[in-house]
Amino acid sequence: MKKPTNKKNSKNYQKPRGGRSGARMNHPARNQKSAPKPAKPAKAAKPKKQSRPDSDHTQVIQWYPGHMTKTKRRIEKDLKLVDAVAEIIDARIPISSRNPDIAHLTSGKPRIVLLNKCDMADKRATDQWVTALSKENVRAIPVDCKSGRGVDRFVPVLTDLLSDRIESYKAKGMVNPTMRVMIVGIPNVGKSTFINRISKKTKATAADRPGVTRGNQWFTVSKGFEMLDTPGVLWPKFDDQKVGEHLAFTGAIKSEVMDTELLAVRLIDLLKELKTPEFAERYQLTEEELSLQSYEVLEKIARHRGMLISGGEADTERAAYTLLDEFRAAKLGRITLEKP
Ligand code: G4P
Repeated sequence: MKKPTNKKNSKNYQKPRGGRSGARMNHPARNQKSAPKPAKPAKAAKPKKQSRPDSDHTQVIQWYPGHMTKTKRRIEKDLKLVDAVAEIIDARIPISSRNPDIAHLTSGKPRIVLLNKCDMADKRATDQWVTALSKENVRAIPVDCKSGRGVDRFVPVLTDLLSDRIESYKAKGMVNPTMRVMIVGIPNVGKSTFINRISKKTKATAADRPGVTRGNQWFTVSKGFEMLDTPGVLWPKFDDQKVGEHLAFTGAIKSEVMDTELLAVRLIDLLKELKTPEFAERYQLTEEELSLQSYEVLEKIARHRGMLISGGEADTERAAYTLLDEFRAAKLGRITLEKP
């Protein structure tokens, strides 16, 4: 989406009204009957907003990926070819970035969870997630696929996880059995980055594996381990508004499908709750300003950043884009939005 780069762009920018990419957005600000907020001073030159987003507004994000069934079928088929599944999730939102279908789809396959983007998540929270997942018998590894940190633990953990299976293959007379892994995860979680980092860029030769070719390509991960070169992409599921918002905050779903200012207001609600010091510091917000309604905080951010439109009004839309961009780039600190 084009970001407003100047006052003109910002003013002329039309908010998406849904319908793109199969997504529909129901902007509650339009539906609200009694708006419990102070009226904005009317400006002749500016088209009036119907209402300004505040914390009471809800935003129902609905997502209808038409190819979901096809993808699921493909994953189900490919699962028959693998010994284990590695699910990549976002360490900042370990609940929202997990597709609930995966447990059902993978039906009893040994599973590893990679808590990716841990460079942007709160370290203590990530450790807590590793502990919480291990209590559910899930091996979890915090990784930062961008720098490669933690990725070298993948093969040892996989070897340990599959030790019984390897032994049983050996007992059946297989010499040096090859274990195969499929990577799954929702879009943008870092599947390609992980595959690029872990694979040795050596395509395994199809001739070695009768019955396992079917046009699939396999990468050698290390001796005895191969990985399907195309990850299983599962769309996130969100009946819960919070899940949709968290996916949007982190950029897992695109801003086109929702109202940016409302999203920014909801993020400010959360940042105020978390009392993230970097938030106040970065936007030079005083204690008093932080205690304002979140939309007013957004106005303060716009003013402190010199984002103004005609008549000296705060350009909250531009401030909203800035806030979301900076949050996604971890400029507001390492933040985990979901705790175990
Ligand atoms: P996908 O295949 O699951 O769709 O995700 P992909 O690997 O394309 O990664 C999505 C974005 O997340 C990429 O950024 C990628 O660089 C970033 N990313 C992946 N792993 C990590 C990580 O551990 N830490 C951080 N900080 N970022 C990570 P992008 O902006 O879309 O692309 P690019 O600018 O890096 O090229």
